[in-house]
Amino acid sequence: MDVFAAGAAIFSYVSNLQNPFQAPVNSTCLPPATTADWAALNQTVGGRLYPGRPWTHHCFSTFDGEPKEQDAEACAHVQKNFFDHFARADAFGSYSVQSYESCIATSEQCELNWLNPADPVAYGEAKHCKQGSVPDYYVDVKGQDDVIAALQFVKERDVPLVIKNTGHDFKGRSSAPGSLALWTHNLNSLKHEPEFVPEDCPSQPAENAITVGAGAIWQHVYEFTASHGLDIAGGADQTVGAAGGWLQGGGHSPLSPVYGMGADRVLQYKVVTVDGVPRTVNACQNPDLFWALRGGGGGTFAVVLEATMKVFPAKSLRVASINWPIDRENVKAMLPMVLEKMTGLASQGWAGYFTPSLGNLILINPLLNFKEAQDTVQPLIDLSVSLGGVSNVTEYPNFLTWFNDYAVGKSGQQDPVGLPHAFVSRLIPEKNHRTTESRAELLDALMNAYDNSDFFQLHMTMPFGFKDTDIKETSVNPIWRSTLYQVILVNVWMYDSTLEDKKAAYAKSTKAINYLRDVTPDSGTYHNEADVHEPSHEAAFWGENYERLLQIKEKYDPTRILDCWHCVGWKGPSSPRFKCYI
Ligand SMILES: Cc1cc2nc3c(=O)[nH]c(=O)nc-3n(C[C@H](O)[C@H](O)[C@H](O)COP(=O)(O)OP(=O)(O)OC[C@H]3O[C@@H](n4cnc5c(N)ncnc54)[C@H](O)[C@@H]3O)c2cc1C
Ligand SMILES: *[C@@H]1O[C@H](CO)[C@@H](O)[C@H](O)[C@H]1NC(C)=O
Ligand SMILES: *[C@@H]1O[C@H](CO)[C@@H](O)[C@H](O)[C@H]1NC(C)=O
Repeated sequence: MDVFAAGAAIFSYVSNLQNPFQAPVNSTCLPPATTADWAALNQTVGGRLYPGRPWTHHCFSTFDGEPKEQDAEACAHVQKNFFDHFARADAFGSYSVQSYESCIATSEQCELNWLNPADPVAYGEAKHCKQGSVPDYYVDVKGQDDVIAALQFVKERDVPLVIKNTGHDFKGRSSAPGSLALWTHNLNSLKHEPEFVPEDCPSQPAENAITVGAGAIWQHVYEFTASHGLDIAGGADQTVGAAGGWLQGGGHSPLSPVYGMGADRVLQYKVVTVDGVPRTVNACQNPDLFWALRGGGGGTFAVVLEATMKVFPAKSLRVASINWPIDRENVKAMLPMVLEKMTGLASQGWAGYFTPSLGNLILINPLLNFKEAQDTVQPLIDLSVSLGGVSNVTEYPNFLTWFNDYAVGKSGQQDPVGLPHAFVSRLIPEKNHRTTESRAELLDALMNAYDNSDFFQLHMTMPFGFKDTDIKETSVNPIWRSTLYQVILVNVWMYDSTLEDKKAAYAKSTKAINYLRDVTPDSGTYHNEADVHEPSHEAAFWGENYERLLQIKEKYDPTRILDCWHCVGWKGPSSPRFKCYI
């Protein structure tokens, strides 16, 4: 029954979108951009305007209906590095979720077969490379003048603007058909500021901080902080951006139980607002915008050029690697103890990832000593060993050494990139773990969710028990503070899947996450890792903070020059830039 309910919900949603009686939206009434306009923009930005092309276009012998030469060497590079996080982040025309390079709704795409990127059938004679959702043009941003020029351009022409940093977004908010993109990738400066005071804000104490350019990625930031003997709360992927969607949207970290979320620790931004004015944004200057940029989401309030974040003296880590033979029954055997211990673990500073597809629970702790750490996790270790696993506690001298092992799969595993999929998630509150009955109900829901997903994971990376920041200082949904973990799950589709197959994947993910929505009715969802069909998304993503966020959006971007799917104050699904969503 559920599958029909979910399918019907999506179907009515889609048929809404395609309602032939609905007038096409041309809310701007602006002229389209001509070749001469683009050339003039190129001049203004110092020749750093480029055509955006799907990363994979080298493999094909047509592009947007025209014959072209295949570039065998460039194609081989793409195929070899198809799942490489760095190669993807370095290529403008690549996105972590391959389907956001494509027009999902029309299948206009340029996709390789992710099951085997070398498969020649995917780019053979019968296959044609289409622009899809990759922006038509991008500016390789070097500084604020480029941003000001692009903002001016889109205000005068009917061209949607997107900001692309790493392209990791799970909701396609950094690509859009027919758009101009600001590519922040090369703004990658890193600076240690041991006595940082926000500008014109003498009331604030001096803090140990780093300032990073908008394009900096976590691997580089972690190498930088480790070389200065510092820790920072950052993302669990080498190439997620440090100052883009992650930070502005909240940012959870394997160090969040100890240092809070990214949004808790940001001290200042340098931005350009939609009116073309460069601004310093901190607790004293533009404080409303500062609050909005601490959880309200990327791509919505301003173009960020750099961010300053608090850092801490580096701590060593205790790491529990708890393993069991990969098997559904073992997941079901491990979860009850994990649920029972979860509140205690989070309170003691443990963070980690529970990953059935790896048969692994990886836990890290910078606070407990070795003996305390071992005593806490021994029952979990014993259980996993009884199931046939090899498990232990080890020590890492600092976060970077653990993270390097994690990234390559020696101690946990960062999530894969390159697949097309329907991603959904749910924040799971502490209160669901209080009684035997509530844990039993939750276990059922988790197993049902697991049974309806291709990939399933618990992110135990919440700021539970973290008290250093007054929660009113950030616009992160307050429910995060009473949440123990986030469940994420995906259902994939194939590169040559039909529209029906894709709808089925979305419906399956909706069905799976509904089990968890049902048992957590007052909770919500992380907008950075959410269902594109999230019900009542405003409340789910921002709770009581939504109204004020909307007022701030009105103030800084009244005409919605910055717009993205389910972002604060978005224009709604009929806007042409959203035509590729189903
Ligand atoms: C493999 C993987 C692992 C992840 N791990 C984590 C994790 O551990 N913790 C976590 O919290 N999240 C995680 N995420 C989710 C991540 O936070 C989001 O994907 C986030 O949107 C990425 O931001 P980005 O700037 O890197 O990516 P992009 O896709 O380039 O941008 C995302 C959004 O931010 C906007 N944006 C980017 N730069 C700017 C800027 N300079 N100014 C204004 N807006 C900007 C874009 O317009 C877009 O709306 C992960 C995602 C992936 C794919
Ligand atoms: C912009 O100008 C540079 C330098 O003249 C040139 O290399 C580039 O191709 C131009 N971009 C576009 C989109 O024409
Ligand atoms: C800990 O267990 C892992 C396997 O999970 C193993 O690779 C590693 O060698 C073990 N380390 C110690 C010190 O026992």
